[in-house]
Amino acid sequence: MDILIRSTPDGVSLAAADILADYARRGATLGLATGSTPLGTYRELIRRYQAGEVSFADCTAFLLDEYVGLAPEHEQSYHHTIRHEFTSHVDFDDARVFSPDGTADNPWAAAAEYEQAIIDSGGVDIQLLGIGTNGHIGFNEPGAALDGPTHVDTLHPQTISDNSRFFDSAADVPIHVLTQGLGTIKRAGHLLMLATGEGKATAVAALAEGPLTTMCPASVLQSHPRVTVIVDEAAGSKLHNIDYHRFVEANALPR
Ligand code: PGA
Repeated sequence: MDILIRSTPDGVSLAAADILADYARRGATLGLATGSTPLGTYRELIRRYQAGEVSFADCTAFLLDEYVGLAPEHEQSYHHTIRHEFTSHVDFDDARVFSPDGTADNPWAAAAEYEQAIIDSGGVDIQLLGIGTNGHIGFNEPGAALDGPTHVDTLHPQTISDNSRFFDSAADVPIHVLTQGLGTIKRAGHLLMLATGEGKATAVAALAEGPLTTMCPASVLQSHPRVTVIVDEAAGSKLHNIDYHRFVEANALPR
């Protein structure tokens, strides 16, 4: 696992945009994430697109997760959010931006169909990830199956509390979600994890330096052959091996 430490959240966004732009130029399948953390990266990619530096015309995207019960046009659905924040501002083909169907009559069948769609596409080349304060990735909460497929899950009360800022109240946050499983996420060719702010410091230390355990779903990144974690100083502040991570960064292999 390569851990890159940047002094500010903007530095994290620039470093992440560099990596994603390289994949976009190759017409890759991008695994996209919602939440606050990747917004700066999306803004930077939009800027580079407008400057003629990168195109997404040949890319495909698969989102990590979706709320059960929110229609695609609901402004907090991830179907809507990813378009609003990123894909509709660049030359992404909207028909190639996929997310789990949160309004399916049978969400378990929708989960299985989404898993199969990812496999049929040839798989995700690079998966962008954020981390929850409780160590979740996607909506894989503590206790998630370490090799699980896309599935229906129940949000942890901590996640409902964290995400209530996007809704009128915590009572409006859907309780059920569809999420790529940890097994789905691990099949991506390259995992790119971003974290900023002190609130993520404990989760980042657990993902990088704690045991590989279902109680910190993000720790499954330890078992993946190609992982880049980019954090700002605050999110990296509880890493013990910080000097080692800086040494690795200074001697990084080419991307
Ligand atoms: P955030 O969420 O980027 O809004 O902090 C990350 C996550 O919960 O996975």
